[in-house]
Amino acid sequence: MRFSDDFITELCARNDIEDVVSKYVDLQYRTSRTPKGLCPFHSEKTPSFIVYRDTQSYYCFGCGNGGNVITFIKNIERLDFVEAVRFLCDRCGMAMPTDPVDDEYLRLRRRCYEANREAARFFCGCLKTEAAAPARAYLEKRGLLPETVKSFGLGFAPDTWDSLVKYLKGKGFTENELVAFYLARQGKSGHAYDVFRNRLMFPIIDLRGNVVAFGGRVLDDSKPKYLNTADTVVYKKGSGIYALNFAKNNKDRALILCEGYMDVIAMHQAGFTNAVAALGTAFTQEQISLLSRYCDELYLSFDSDEAGQKATQRALRLLENAPMKLRVLRIDGGKDPDEVIKTQGKEKMRDLIDNAQNDTEFALSQAQAKYDISTDDGKLGFLNDAVLVLAAVPNPMERDIYVSRLAQLTGTSREAIAQQVHRAVLAKRKRDNRAAFENDAREAAGDDKGKIPNPERRAHLRACKAEETILASLLKNPDYLKRFASMLNADSFVTEVNRNLFADISARIRANRPLDLSCFSEESSNEQISMLAYLLSLGEKIAGTPKEMEECIRTLAEEKSKQALPDASGMSDEDFIKFMENKRKKAGV
Ligand code: UTP
Ligand code: MN
Repeated sequence: MRFSDDFITELCARNDIEDVVSKYVDLQYRTSRTPKGLCPFHSEKTPSFIVYRDTQSYYCFGCGNGGNVITFIKNIERLDFVEAVRFLCDRCGMAMPTDPVDDEYLRLRRRCYEANREAARFFCGCLKTEAAAPARAYLEKRGLLPETVKSFGLGFAPDTWDSLVKYLKGKGFTENELVAFYLARQGKSGHAYDVFRNRLMFPIIDLRGNVVAFGGRVLDDSKPKYLNTADTVVYKKGSGIYALNFAKNNKDRALILCEGYMDVIAMHQAGFTNAVAALGTAFTQEQISLLSRYCDELYLSFDSDEAGQKATQRALRLLENAPMKLRVLRIDGGKDPDEVIKTQGKEKMRDLIDNAQNDTEFALSQAQAKYDISTDDGKLGFLNDAVLVLAAVPNPMERDIYVSRLAQLTGTSREAIAQQVHRAVLAKRKRDNRAAFENDAREAAGDDKGKIPNPERRAHLRACKAEETILASLLKNPDYLKRFASMLNADSFVTEVNRNLFADISARIRANRPLDLSCFSEESSNEQISMLAYLLSLGEKIAGTPKEMEECIRTLAEEKSKQALPDASGMSDEDFIKFMENKRKKAGV
């Protein structure tokens, strides 16, 4: 335990959860006194993210993420526990109690940042050497100006086996560290050697200015074209956005999302300093939520080839519930933004940006491209697809404008199209309402098809519900531990998650430690915290009486005995034979 319970309790008291959450989530107070909003941790259309004032906790019934104010900051700002505590200390003007650098994990992270910074420095230095002449020639061929190379911190990894390893060892880093930071690999001979060799180096810098990873490009056509840092203590693939450190402060709150490092750099050099890239792996929800904090409008500017178009469609699907306005650039006159700028100039790029289609226009033109609309069949096919696209447009005036355009384009009556769209809108509304209703019902029943972080829940639903009620009741009435001691212990529990929670909670009660989430969050896993947050949310729904406790304990005992000895009479022959076989195996006969 790094922080005292008193400190954590005080920290949480000074950072009201509703206050903190409302900076990130648009909380609604419509139907109940409990604030509700769209979950920032997954995409959704109907709010299932709930803030509980009484217990100062939150829980999302859509994705099962839950916790207290520290967990929330940890998850949304992607910090570790100590960093989240520091963040909240800064927010409310409290002093951090201990020097957290003692912490081994934190120390490792700091070492990794330092090693990466030194490595970036080393690569920059190498770019100036004799041996880097081909790399400089390559940059020149790609049209990058010296000031661009400098501001993006580009460098060169020399064509040797261990220049970087030697350099960083000279700076006091061990081979083990370098391997863990993905700067070196362990060779068979026992010596570490550089991961990046004879490559142009692109440092990846996070929002706080730390070098967290590298991309390294070959100077010719060999494969792989790019080598990227794998996951380390400071970097997780699919979570960062390249160049967001430069682009985040653009005053228009618009960002241009490109496919590659080179596109981003060429765009910035041409004056489009709001260009970013998602880097290597497929675009993720995590990246979307990061982007949504820095822009209200997102331009997709992927390559014009088939892969780029596929990526665009995939990104649009992922972005369906994202809060920002979407636009799609139609890259022509080159395969990617970099080539367009190089061959046709930045004016052409400006033009492409200004004429970018919104997501509806893009979907309509994708649909149109599937058909030959000079034939009747083609027209009909296209209109059927188009109607579905328009049904998803929330603004009726906007829908109306597209209906007129479609009528003109296909020479079909406006009324007929409008009528079809109207029908599709109603059908969609019905579907959405039903989904929302089911969502609410599940939430009310506390039964959220596997969203509750207990992998055994589905298989043991009855036992699980009893366990959850017991635990929730215990959190409300710690004295029940003593009162039911003769009937209830860890072995009474059917599922492992709840058994562990019970052990945890009862140890705390016995040690007289506080039971609020704040004091759990340092030592427990994310799943455990989410589960606790869920239990706290149950607190409102259960009776919390001794009678209820007794009933649940009885249910649990029943379920437990069922588990120990399955009822053979209800078994199929096959199952019965298997059951007996298992029993024999266990008994060693
Ligand atoms: P591209 O092949 O479009 O590269 O891949 P690029 O950035 O346009 O580079 P140039 O113009 O050919 O020099 C787009 C992005 O996909 C990732 C990189 O992040 C790259 O910038 N990628 C590509 C890899 O991670 N590994 C690869 O082998 C290829
Ligand atoms: Mn390119």
